[in-house]
Amino acid sequence: MKAGAATISRRALLQSSAAFGAVLLTRCESLSRTARGSGPARLPEIRLGQDELILNASERPLVLPGHNMPVPAWTYGEKVFPVLRARAGETMRVRLANRLREHTTIHWHGVKVPNAMDGVPYVTQPPVLPDEDFLYEFSPPNPGLFFFHPHCNTAEQFGRGLAGVLIVDDGTEDDYDDDILCALRDWRVDGEGNFLPFITNDGAGRAGSFGDLRTTNLRIAPEIDVPAGADIRLRIVNLDPTRSGEIGIAGAEAVVIAIDGNAVEPFSFSTWRLGPAMRLELCLRSPPDGGVFRLLDYFSAEPVTLAAFSARGAGKRPGEFLPSALPAPRLPEPDIANANLHEMELSASAVATQYADLAPIVLPDGRTINLLDSLCTSATTLWAVDGRTWPEQGHENAPPPILRFARGETAYIEFFNSSRFPHPMHLHGHAFKVLSASELPRPVHWADTVLVMPDERVRIAFVADNPGNWMLHCHIIEHQETGMMAWFEVY
Ligand code: C2O
Ligand code: CU
Repeated sequence: MKAGAATISRRALLQSSAAFGAVLLTRCESLSRTARGSGPARLPEIRLGQDELILNASERPLVLPGHNMPVPAWTYGEKVFPVLRARAGETMRVRLANRLREHTTIHWHGVKVPNAMDGVPYVTQPPVLPDEDFLYEFSPPNPGLFFFHPHCNTAEQFGRGLAGVLIVDDGTEDDYDDDILCALRDWRVDGEGNFLPFITNDGAGRAGSFGDLRTTNLRIAPEIDVPAGADIRLRIVNLDPTRSGEIGIAGAEAVVIAIDGNAVEPFSFSTWRLGPAMRLELCLRSPPDGGVFRLLDYFSAEPVTLAAFSARGAGKRPGEFLPSALPAPRLPEPDIANANLHEMELSASAVATQYADLAPIVLPDGRTINLLDSLCTSATTLWAVDGRTWPEQGHENAPPPILRFARGETAYIEFFNSSRFPHPMHLHGHAFKVLSASELPRPVHWADTVLVMPDERVRIAFVADNPGNWMLHCHIIEHQETGMMAWFEVY
């Protein structure tokens, strides 16, 4: 790191902050809880307005629950997992100030951003180097629950805590008596203040490396006060790099109102398999004063309590539980009848593919990149999309796009998982319609991440209407970083 350059860019940043009236995360966190709910088990929220928000990515000591020694976490502010609230259609400005010792970017998972704002180093922007900063500026078009995270050396950066939640409002949030976020995250830590390795051979080659310390909003099974007899919007986001849960509610009637931020026609909720990066929004009726309900993970033999909710006060809604639907997502309907189905096999792979004579990646600003950074790739390649792996360390060029679509064309894809482990498949820049799944039954719904179970065939479709180069990968980060990653082009 060049010390001189660092000092200058820091000073330049301070000046630009003053000039644009930027808000530092540390200052406004305590001021901006939501009007309805507060309390220690809720993550503080930051309402984005005209001003720029600075996310200062830096190493900070973090004392995790049940631990005495802090671990060296990497976070975007004084608090882990900042929760940003923006309004659909309004411009948001978030400046990433990189104060880490390595480069990073911010990817806005699930948000339909212009390609240049998608935060994939080498593919949509140059990496933001240590002591540099980068302004993300876009208007999220659709309301919903999203999150953000780095997109290179992700196992470590995300594993140490670099992530945040983005809630995009459209006014319908006022229809509920409370609005609660539950951010699920396990931590790979020992008792001595160390992180455990973020990539292990065993994990990367199998279902991933799990963390033993399971948290919701950074607490172990927190207790959250909610209004009694009320209609509550519960937003659940899986911020874990690895774990899928079988999420359920005990003690309250609930319906599903949105999946990955996209409204669904409400259907009654029993459980939902929530893979890494996936989000689920419920509307539920809380019990009368003194009653308790729980958020559970039924995946293991003994259900795990993720959070408990205590109802307090006079009942808000004496009548029947008649949850109202959110406005239907404004997404173009794919034209499946006239589309070609592309089968995409998800498989284990022993050999790395060679990408010898390929053109360099062209960035949105016209610059080209010939060399892939070793941080974005792994020395070992274990997984493949359609027999192709994301280049191994040492490869000099990016692979060719796995698919190309003309703007406005319907993309119709069948994922086929020939491996023994589930893969939460995610693609950038678009929401897709999950049309069918052969193993794990699911209603037709819009999503940006879909679990593909072993031997399963899952069909998705979307209108490729957002031009650019977009990633497609498994969201078990160890799989992503050992080859299960590709990109497609919308031209
Ligand atoms: Cu949430 Cu390409 O990532
Ligand atoms: Cu996977």
